[in-house]
Amino acid sequence: MITRRSFLGLTGAIFATALGMACTGKEGVQTTMQTPAPSVTSEKEYVHLPELPWKYEKLDPDHVADLGYEGYMEAHCMYGVFNAVVVALEEKVGFPYSEFPTHLAVYGKGGVVGWATLCGALNGAAMAAYLVLPEKDADEVINELYSWYEYTELPEYVPKKAKKADLSPFPKSVANSPLCHASVTNWCEVSGYKAFSAERSERCGRLTADVAKKLVELLNAKADGTFVAAYPLDERTASCRGCHTKGSPLENTRGKMSCESCHDVTQIEEHPKV
Ligand code: HEC
Ligand code: HEC
Repeated sequence: MITRRSFLGLTGAIFATALGMACTGKEGVQTTMQTPAPSVTSEKEYVHLPELPWKYEKLDPDHVADLGYEGYMEAHCMYGVFNAVVVALEEKVGFPYSEFPTHLAVYGKGGVVGWATLCGALNGAAMAAYLVLPEKDADEVINELYSWYEYTELPEYVPKKAKKADLSPFPKSVANSPLCHASVTNWCEVSGYKAFSAERSERCGRLTADVAKKLVELLNAKADGTFVAAYPLDERTASCRGCHTKGSPLENTRGKMSCESCHDVTQIEEHPKV
């Protein structure tokens, strides 16, 4: 388990260095510190982390889903997914996963501190992919995961014991987008529950478990050399990109999100028929 203590220990050590440097020129800086600086005297005492990517060992997707659900309840969606992968790898591999301050990922909550941009579960998954895979493989896994998320009815995960709301059957929806806003609001429309309800929170906890599980299935496939992208960009979005993205006649957009989750071309006067 990544404990809060080990997180604070690491940042404490970083602050201590900054403080040590500041103190050489100025007295009294120490009074602004809220925690006493640990007695780290030389760089040798720091933990040296290996270069990325870190060693990956195949994980049990269902176990990681459980950890994802629990993590969500502890510190939200992005932390839920990211911490689940790191903790499961810590159980199997130990160092350096034991040293990662996973609380860093809390910022992704609610699509980055409530801005409802990128779904936090997807944000955490992308960070985990970059922790364990080289860039090209990580990008392939992330593309696949994001496409799957856009078009799959979620949540699928059923916890052993529901923590926020126990509905049966649990309402599912298709996000049609990797954005927290669309994902949450589409679910609210389907289910009739409010965006700040316990039921919506339960839904995001289960979705966090789903994303963690799917990510591990993809990482395992990469480890086995059996990875195949099963969710390519949908045809409609690909056709829009044909005129609007890199190398196209207009080249005035970028992105792989479903264009029609936001634009209705039939409403655009004089738009070419597509
Ligand atoms: C055959 C080429 C082509 C395809 C395919 C295409 N577009 Fe366009 N689109 C255009 C052209 C040309 C314009 C007008 C450009 C201008 O006048 O600035 C345009 C304009 C737009 C605009 C801006 C409209 C405005 O208010 O000015 C949006 C939004 C848009 N397209 C979205 C889409 C979406 C979404 C798709 C896919 C469903 C799509 N386009 C597919 C050629 C295309
Ligand atoms: C999350 C919503 C969203 C998605 C997804 C999205 N767009 Fe947009 N798009 C916008 C917004 C917002 C603007 C800015 C509109 C404005 O300010 O008038 C915009 C602007 C545009 C414009 C310029 C419109 C103009 O006024 O000239 C084009 C063209 C366009 N988008 C095409 C696309 C294409 C193609 C895709 C898919 C690859 C896409 N968009 C995906 C929200 C979105």
